[in-house]
Amino acid sequence: MKRVAVMTSGGDSPGMNAAVRAVTKKAIYHNLDVYGVYRGYEGLMEGDIKKLELKDVGSIIHRGGTILGTARSERFKTEEGQQQALEQLAKHDIDSLVVIGGDGSYRGAQALHKKGINTIGIPGTIDNDINGTDFTLGFSTAINTVIEAVDRIRDTATSHERSFVIEVMGRDAGDIAAWSGLATGAESIFIPETVMDKAEMVTRLKKGFDRGKKHSIIIVAEGVGTAEEFATYINENSEYDSRVTVLGHIQRGGSPVVFDRILGSRLGGKAIDLLMEGISGKALGLEKNEISVHDYDYVFQKKDHKDLDEYIQLSKELSI
Ligand code: ADP
Ligand code: F6P
Repeated sequence: MKRVAVMTSGGDSPGMNAAVRAVTKKAIYHNLDVYGVYRGYEGLMEGDIKKLELKDVGSIIHRGGTILGTARSERFKTEEGQQQALEQLAKHDIDSLVVIGGDGSYRGAQALHKKGINTIGIPGTIDNDINGTDFTLGFSTAINTVIEAVDRIRDTATSHERSFVIEVMGRDAGDIAAWSGLATGAESIFIPETVMDKAEMVTRLKKGFDRGKKHSIIIVAEGVGTAEEFATYINENSEYDSRVTVLGHIQRGGSPVVFDRILGSRLGGKAIDLLMEGISGKALGLEKNEISVHDYDYVFQKKDHKDLDEYIQLSKELSI
């Protein structure tokens, strides 16, 4: 192993800085030279690469976002873009790379691995949509942000006896919606992985208000549709007044909760261990609180979402 670099890519997530810090410090601990690639694959192709010292990663474990910056790059998906990246890595004498990002970023890491660069992936995304890990970096912080917002909305919903439809992120995955819905006692939760029709939502809403409930919270995963769509349905099919909140990028920011700081630290440290053993082409995760190591092709398979079915069913039973 010559020199190692670390980068963040795709959507940022809380805990990425903890992972960058761990990779950097663990490498320096082992007397390795470590480099930071700025602005994701875009920066890699452009040679936006700088040596990292201990001071560069000081006081970042508690910060949201990523100090390295991130990007989505169409150009890197091309052969020409990847050749450019390889040239930059060679120029800096870097043969090993830790990529912190979602499955798109992993595809880039796999492409570089096939071209002779030692790569290890760390699952950094709030969506929790990566196979081979129970949790992705940033998911815990994101759902805590969501429940804080939903709790506040519930206060005003109760005062006005309204129903609120709250749209949360997750791309095609329903983890953020299912977890935050169960944790806030939402009356209905819509996720892409399970089927529930809008009529059932209105029935549940009516039953709740008839029983004396003062509010109704409906959580919609963005992968199912827009909150606006669901609120319109309620307004057209019941006498209840409904409002919409789209939580948006507030879900991606903020100081990482303890779980994400620990996860970032553990996976960052493990990435250096593996690279020092000469291992490449692997994605890290956490399964039953143990660090797992899988081939990229394994983590590209669709995640089994049996846990979400259970959450939705339980939520239906508890929010009667
Ligand atoms: P995430 O990593 O959060 O899933 P994206 O899907 O946007 O986010 O992927 C991040 C970046 O990874 C993309 O902008 C692109 O540069 C790179 N990438 C995605 N898919 C591929 C691919 N098939 N081959 C090479 N690079 C890819
Ligand atoms: O993958 C993380 C995520 O926040 C998704 O939940 C969301 O669909 C997407 O990124 C938003 O991407 P952007 O920040 O590019 O609008």
